[in-house]
Amino acid sequence: MRALYDRAAVLARSYGYRYVETPVFEATELFARTSGETSDVVTKEMYTFEDRRGRSLTLRPEGTAPVMRAYLGQMQEQASPFKAYYLTRMYRYARPQEGRYREHRQFGIEVFGSGDPAADVEVIAVGDAYLRDLGLSRFEIQLNSIGDDVCRPAYRELLLSYLRERRDRLTDEHRDRFEDNPLRVLDCKDEACRAVAAEAPRITDHLDDACREHFEAVQAGLKDEGVSAVLTPTLVRGLDYYTRTAFEFVSSDLPPQQAALFGGGRYDGLAEVLGGPHVPGVGFGMGLERVASALEHEGVEPPTEPELRVWVVGVGDAGRARARDLTRALRAAGVPADTAFEDRPLKAQLKMADRARAAFAAIVGERELETGAVTVRRLSDGAQEEIAQDALVARLRDEERGA
Ligand code: HAM
Repeated sequence: MRALYDRAAVLARSYGYRYVETPVFEATELFARTSGETSDVVTKEMYTFEDRRGRSLTLRPEGTAPVMRAYLGQMQEQASPFKAYYLTRMYRYARPQEGRYREHRQFGIEVFGSGDPAADVEVIAVGDAYLRDLGLSRFEIQLNSIGDDVCRPAYRELLLSYLRERRDRLTDEHRDRFEDNPLRVLDCKDEACRAVAAEAPRITDHLDDACREHFEAVQAGLKDEGVSAVLTPTLVRGLDYYTRTAFEFVSSDLPPQQAALFGGGRYDGLAEVLGGPHVPGVGFGMGLERVASALEHEGVEPPTEPELRVWVVGVGDAGRARARDLTRALRAAGVPADTAFEDRPLKAQLKMADRARAAFAAIVGERELETGAVTVRRLSDGAQEEIAQDALVARLRDEERGA
């Protein structure tokens, strides 16, 4: 997980995104108002509790609304567009099953303050680069536009009348609920609903000019970027704040319920729902447990945390003192180094070096103490050399940089 976090941070920073952190819980209203009263997240998945004053609080089920809340509250002075990333835990009270956990981790990015299709393209490209850099290739990018407040109402009516005629073909859950949010049926994973969804009128055939031009520009931008996406007219997202672009990266290896590695889209109305000014935005949230299982399914070696560079070995009082000095100097120079707390026989300390999975052992024995030398042993093959103690930091710093 640490390695997945590290790679995400390096990638996000390379695109100019800055780290943002929000509290683990927020006022329940924040999520109820933004995710949508009929969304699964709000109706069944929130971890909600009362504090000692009876205020309703909820453990963060998703990251977009909290980042927008924080931005509107105290960060509007920041550069525009405001580009942020987060690596954090989310909580959803779903029935735990493979790929669906009550606590999961997300790598998310958000761009606030630009409605330009180039922002949508960049967000998708970041997600694509992340998965590809990890070595994943068996996934598909599904792309759709779900219109906006101008063109969606008419489409909604059209879809409603289509669904009313096919009410008895829907699952129980949707038969009773589709009037509240007919778009949700399109996203249902059940066979019966999928058959109905497949023939339903398509939102992309009913976009107004502005939304259609935006969608076309996103597709053209992705093409320029060398990212291929599959147009998926039934793709709608489970949260209500989306407008225009919606996308999901779907693994072809994982079962459908857990195949969405990440999802996101544009949410141009979110800031206003929270009482702020018009701040267009776009972003994604990626489930890192799902990324980890996709790596396993594709047989790709997951990235690991870098090893400890060196374990410093010193025997006897004088040897221990020298080992501590060298360890301190290595750490100050940014070379990950460790040493035993107590004096132990040489063999025992070398065993500790092995167990700590250090790349090198640096040994100060009696002889080295006299000559001012240190023996540097590469633990993978036992190759060793003797160098001056003064040269140790520079030698291992070069190794660390080359690693
Ligand atoms: P979401 O689609 O609800 O979107 O979640 C994003 C991703 O988190 C999913 O694609 C999935 O990989 C992972 N995920 C969600 N729930 C679970 C769970 N219970 N267990 C494991 N993984 C899970 C959002 O949360 C939006 N905030 C994304 C976004 C950011 N849109 C714009 N900006």
